[in-house]
Amino acid sequence: MRAIVASGPGGPEVLELADVPDPTAGPGQVVLDVAATAINRADLLQRQGFYPPPPGASDVLGLECSGTVAAVGEGVTGWDVGDACCALLAGGGYAEKVAVPAGQLMPVPAGVSLADAAALPEVACTVWSNVFMIARLQPEDWFLVHGGAGGIGSFAIQLASALGARVITTGGSAEKLAWCEELGAEVTIDYREQDFVAEVLGATDGHGADVILDNMGAKYLGRNVEALATEGRLVIIGMQGGTKGELDVGVLMRKRGAVISTALRSRPVEGKSAICASVVEHVWPLVADGTIRPVVGATYPLADAAQAHALMESGEGRGKVLLTVS
Ligand SMILES: NC(=O)c1ccc[n+]([C@@H]2O[C@H](COP(=O)([O-])OP(=O)(O)OC[C@H]3O[C@@H](n4cnc5c(N)ncnc54)[C@H](OP(=O)(O)O)[C@@H]3O)[C@@H](O)[C@H]2O)c1
Repeated sequence: MRAIVASGPGGPEVLELADVPDPTAGPGQVVLDVAATAINRADLLQRQGFYPPPPGASDVLGLECSGTVAAVGEGVTGWDVGDACCALLAGGGYAEKVAVPAGQLMPVPAGVSLADAAALPEVACTVWSNVFMIARLQPEDWFLVHGGAGGIGSFAIQLASALGARVITTGGSAEKLAWCEELGAEVTIDYREQDFVAEVLGATDGHGADVILDNMGAKYLGRNVEALATEGRLVIIGMQGGTKGELDVGVLMRKRGAVISTALRSRPVEGKSAICASVVEHVWPLVADGTIRPVVGATYPLADAAQAHALMESGEGRGKVLLTVS
């Protein structure tokens, strides 16, 4: 099959189309004919040589895809050859075929095209598991999501506002923030010009954010804790602002706050499968009835993966960036 491989660690130019062996369906797995895949920030780090795939995962890039079932391994029930689906992957999505544990497959929500379904697994599983399963965001809670115009952010705004939370988001331009308002954000903050702590405390009459979904890591650690409400939960899922920060534990303790961090990719298959099942139960109905839509900002053919990476790195994009495969 054809797949995108990196000729070595480096910039987008190291990505090239190559012939690699077809995957096979092991016990409990299926092989998909990939229709489309999507770019994640973890792919950029892996390409640069900073984020090796977990043990046993394909070294082909790609953490999610949509496609049709091409082969079913021993012990798999509920999926047949020809079924359309989307999948959360530990790797291997930038390819014509990929092997995936059956528990990480999800049906394509009604009304969503097979290609656009590739934009859903990472954002739906990340946002649902962190914001709702772990941080227990409630209706009427204040929810701050950083980077509302990104793939994760644009989905988080839609899901949180659909479930009754009051959404505050940060973004890097007036144009992106206006778009976040269309997605459901009640308060928007330009991170280049405004102090988000002051803006959050002002917008919430001093209450603060009950839940924060953070992509910045170290750079925002102290300020995120300042912006938390009493008994607030800060969930860190990204390191775009570095890994080593300083935290005033006294401030956290006075708020009886929690700082949580998770990664989806390194979870065992059972954990990912449980998240996928919960997403299908709780999130898919909102996609199927049109309350939430996959947000695809740009689409490239698989062979142009380098251009897709360059777009994400430029910060010019919004929503998800897709690669179409077949
Ligand atoms: N832990 C996990 O399991 C997991 C899973 C999936 C994703 N992630 C992480 O989640 C983060 C978002 O992923 P993504 O796919 O949404 O990436 P993306 O589409 O590239 O979005 C990146 C976002 O970062 C925002 N940003 C840049 N500088 C910022 C700043 N100083 N303050 C606030 N926001 C800033 C950008 O805002 P503008 O565009 O407005 O500049 C953009 O919205 C990444 O760090 C990714 O690694 C983690």
